[in-house]
Amino acid sequence: YDGRINIRGKGPFQPDLTLTEGPFVNELSADGAVISFETNKPCMPQITVDGKTYSNLKENGTHHEIQISGLEPGKQYAYTVKYGDNSETYSFKTAPKEGSRTAFTFAYASDSRKATGGGERDIYGVNAYVMKRMAVLAAKENAVFMQFTGDLINGYSSRIGQQRLEYVNWKHSVEPFWHYFPFVIAPGNHEAFLKVFDNGSRYGVSVDNFPFKKVSAEKVFSDEFVNPPNGPVSEDGAVYDPDKKKADFPPYDETAYYYIYDNIAVVALNSNYWYTPNPHQIPLTGGNLHAYIMDNQLQWLKNTLAKLQKDDRIDHIFVTIHTPAFPNAGHSGDDMWYHGNNNMRPWVAGKPVEKGIIERRDQFLNLLINENTKVLALLCGDEHNYTRMLINDSTPRYPKGYDKPKVALKRHLWQITNGSAGAPYYGQEKLPWSGFVKEYTTEHALMLFDVKGKKVTLRVINPDTFEKIEQVNLN
Ligand SMILES: [Fe+2]
Repeated sequence: YDGRINIRGKGPFQPDLTLTEGPFVNELSADGAVISFETNKPCMPQITVDGKTYSNLKENGTHHEIQISGLEPGKQYAYTVKYGDNSETYSFKTAPKEGSRTAFTFAYASDSRKATGGGERDIYGVNAYVMKRMAVLAAKENAVFMQFTGDLINGYSSRIGQQRLEYVNWKHSVEPFWHYFPFVIAPGNHEAFLKVFDNGSRYGVSVDNFPFKKVSAEKVFSDEFVNPPNGPVSEDGAVYDPDKKKADFPPYDETAYYYIYDNIAVVALNSNYWYTPNPHQIPLTGGNLHAYIMDNQLQWLKNTLAKLQKDDRIDHIFVTIHTPAFPNAGHSGDDMWYHGNNNMRPWVAGKPVEKGIIERRDQFLNLLINENTKVLALLCGDEHNYTRMLINDSTPRYPKGYDKPKVALKRHLWQITNGSAGAPYYGQEKLPWSGFVKEYTTEHALMLFDVKGKKVTLRVINPDTFEKIEQVNLN
């Protein structure tokens, strides 16, 4: 966390070209990966794999992303990053051919922002101690990738240097492992990057930072992480878009996306797009609500799930979003519930949108459960504990006197919340669906999905003590 620098000469020493972040393995596929890293000075680095040299001729700055392709599936490859007179060698294993149904394990967690206790539990925005333990355990269990959905850092900053420093601290906490297998990151509310107006109140009035194309939370996030560019574009063109000819909304960029590994697909959503943190302020400033999936992102999810449903290589889909459909411990006042208040919704150009949060939650559940047969689990965070909950048609899910249409659910779905990667823990609440919570713990927990063709087993292990919390077959 102090940073690092290469030196040259025999004294007096000179600072040399240095990898200040990475290299990181991203966008792993059956034929390659994207290797990303930062250097302290502009340069034109190269990567050699299996005797072949790769570079990115568009890049001669300090941020580097180099596509490696043309490799064989399921094979270990050493890669050497050459920058200036220096080089470093690591390795990664390509994914199996899509649909080959080999046995593999992947890991999931979220919420690693700083906690009380000092030391490595609070390294400027990050609980680096627990995050490092999570990465150690994922590596020990041979996880082929780790999905991490939101609240990596404390964030909520309006200073770019602060936000970037917190992101760097997070990356450093798992860096020794990310050289070898991917950490796939999606945003949460703490990735907020804000424009704050002082109105005399404690926090002032905050909105997503603008101009959106340059400094929105979405833009800063996508500068920091390397995800597949296959998500929705923005909310432009939606029914509430005030100017159909102009791009007014923030780009989704790499904050929502999907990827395939062997016979599974992971669809990652942005729960905090165009986020206005204080919901009571939304009619004043406009903006989107914590946990509300706006129209274009929902349509993209519908299209993506339909495509994956038809794809014979895919047996299971995991949908991941920071905010649970059903909060259980700490977030009954927001997520997709707001104490049962369906009036909560985004406002655009001075007007509320058509659907409230509970109607939108139902549309979301309808896509995952009724319109698709492959979505096995919804992986969430936001609440700082581990909660496994069954969602089916018997799950109570409406407030008293709810006068909007109710959605019947044709099959069951697991909602698994695991915001236990280091943020201060939350106790369980009593909610209408509490009887459907099958497991709950405030221990730090790493989820490990063992996928063997159609069979999926979930093992949950405390990364600090290596104690097993539970093991359950999901299908
Ligand atoms: Fe959160």
